[in-house]
Amino acid sequence: MNKNNPLEFGTVCAKEFKENRTTAPHVLPIYATSSFAFESLQQGIDVFTKKEEGHIYGRFGNPTTDTVARKIAALETHQLNIDAEAILFSSGMAAISTLMLATLQAGDKVLTPANIYGGTIELINKVLLPLRIEPVWADLNDLRQVEQLLQQDSTIKMIYFETPANPLLACADMAAISELAHQYECIAVVDNTFCTPYIQQPLKFGIDFVVHSTTKYLNGHGNSVAGAVIGKDIAFMKSRLFQTMKLVGTNCNAWDAWLIYNGLKTLELRMERHSSNAMQLAEYLEKHRAIAKVYYNGLPSNPDHL
Ligand SMILES: Cc1ncc(COP(=O)(O)O)c(C=O)c1O
Repeated sequence: MNKNNPLEFGTVCAKEFKENRTTAPHVLPIYATSSFAFESLQQGIDVFTKKEEGHIYGRFGNPTTDTVARKIAALETHQLNIDAEAILFSSGMAAISTLMLATLQAGDKVLTPANIYGGTIELINKVLLPLRIEPVWADLNDLRQVEQLLQQDSTIKMIYFETPANPLLACADMAAISELAHQYECIAVVDNTFCTPYIQQPLKFGIDFVVHSTTKYLNGHGNSVAGAVIGKDIAFMKSRLFQTMKLVGTNCNAWDAWLIYNGLKTLELRMERHSSNAMQLAEYLEKHRAIAKVYYNGLPSNPDHL
């Protein structure tokens, strides 16, 4: 057979060989491919025109990344009567910036506390501000002040916060804030990186979009940088947010997505252990003579302790 192969050696090198798979893999494979083949020209046309579901090009979607996104959406809505869609991004910052670019335009404002992750503050000041999307800094625990700001300024279109926030673990009332946001035609966005859906599901409290740096607990092994946005507005997720991700090119790759997938298998166990370790450490430090103050909301002495 080889003797009669009419193809040149170099052509055989370059040729895609048929997979000799006989059974299905027991875990999600990594689809390391930039584009996807179609069975016929007609199928290609149908997938391109969205008559048929399918993958076209890696920046638009990939079976590995899409499956991991579905799993994260399933966790953020676990046992809730809510449907949500998720998209994975190349980092937490890519998730946050793509969501902001997809929802805000010049002249809009984002109301946010100043005690959130420094990278997000820099994104607002250094990337959004030059695009004329301005921040309104506010203490989200002062709901009267938040309402006054929303009343005074109809260009505030988003309330963005972390609860607990990086780095001091300050908390805010998600239900009250999302109610105020909706009363004044704003969207409410929570960065749920620190809690993960195992500890808290912001969509349950009326939050419109949840963002994650999956780089932290969702991956959990320090070997992947990625992010996610989970939203209840399925049409927006599938159209505007997907389109912005696709055109800005902030998509997650299959390898990082797979590492999140692998890490997610132990999320429950890890979050339990992280929490008990943190509690032990906080209790130890709180009693230590050399420590002036401990910020941990598991401690009964913390103002955000539930
Ligand atoms: C709460 C929070 N959100 C977002 C980010 C940004 O995520 P990434 O580093 O994956 O871009 C971080 C990073 O430390 C973070 O702590």
